[in-house]
Amino acid sequence: MVVVETIDDLKRLRLKLTEPVGFVPTMGYFHQGHLALVRQARAESPSVVVSIFVNPTQFGPEEDFDRYPRDPQRDLALLEKGGVDIVFMPSVDEMYPPQFNSWVEVGKVAERLEGASRPGHFKGVATVVARLFDIVQPDKAYFGQKDAQQLVVIKKMVADLNMNLEIVAVPTVREPDGLAMSSRNTYLNPKERKAATVLYQALSLAQKLWSQGERNTERLRQQMTALIQKQPLADIDYVSIADAETLDELDKVKSPALVSLAVRIGKTRLIDNVVVG
Ligand code: PAJ
Repeated sequence: MVVVETIDDLKRLRLKLTEPVGFVPTMGYFHQGHLALVRQARAESPSVVVSIFVNPTQFGPEEDFDRYPRDPQRDLALLEKGGVDIVFMPSVDEMYPPQFNSWVEVGKVAERLEGASRPGHFKGVATVVARLFDIVQPDKAYFGQKDAQQLVVIKKMVADLNMNLEIVAVPTVREPDGLAMSSRNTYLNPKERKAATVLYQALSLAQKLWSQGERNTERLRQQMTALIQKQPLADIDYVSIADAETLDELDKVKSPALVSLAVRIGKTRLIDNVVVG
């Protein structure tokens, strides 16, 4: 495994890789969710590139960029075990030199849900992912279903800009009690960690009601909201039932529908989703 920090070095090494190349973009601090993406890339492609870059432009001014958890030594050991060929770990200056001033904005699908709560977030995500695709030139790139809207935004960008690669969605990896794995789970104290299971409980409730025939999204949202509100440490940002492709909110569940939510547990904002239908 080779670790590189500059775009020039990455491009030079990329020329020597056996095609096709699988790529997993990350912000590091790995858990089993990240490693599932790496495993799938490893299984499907003769060459695997992983990037570790905490991208400042996707964090709002009041968000956790500075305190976002980092552990590059542990991450590199895990990638070495995972059989990765190249790890790209650029500095902020390497990705955003002082004169940098071009941005990718994806429009409607990036403006709702996370985009509405975190203005500019997907502009930062789309821009850094477009740049990483251009630098790494992957044949396939792997993204987690955990960040469902990010997947929709990236797929739309790839389609609109005719980017020549396939986007692969990998199912959400969860803790035994259902909590979706996330680097941000490390912010939770033991009480909050217990309370955080309410996200998956609400999603499971929606799945159960849907399988019993409930198609009215207003009623589904009400039931989910009532369940979350019983948890005193939880503060709802949104509960959404939307078309899985356009992310338009639905009155009646049609298939497939994305049931997603963002909930603050104490100071930590967590997101999760399931697809029904
Ligand atoms: P990060 O949060 O590090 O996540 C990297 C990838 O891991 C994303 O595709 C994310 O959806 C996936 N992932 C996270 N938790 C997961 C889980 N529990 N199960 C399955 N996959 C999971 O997402 C980002 O970084 C950034 O926005 C990035 C795309 C790297 C751009 O900066």
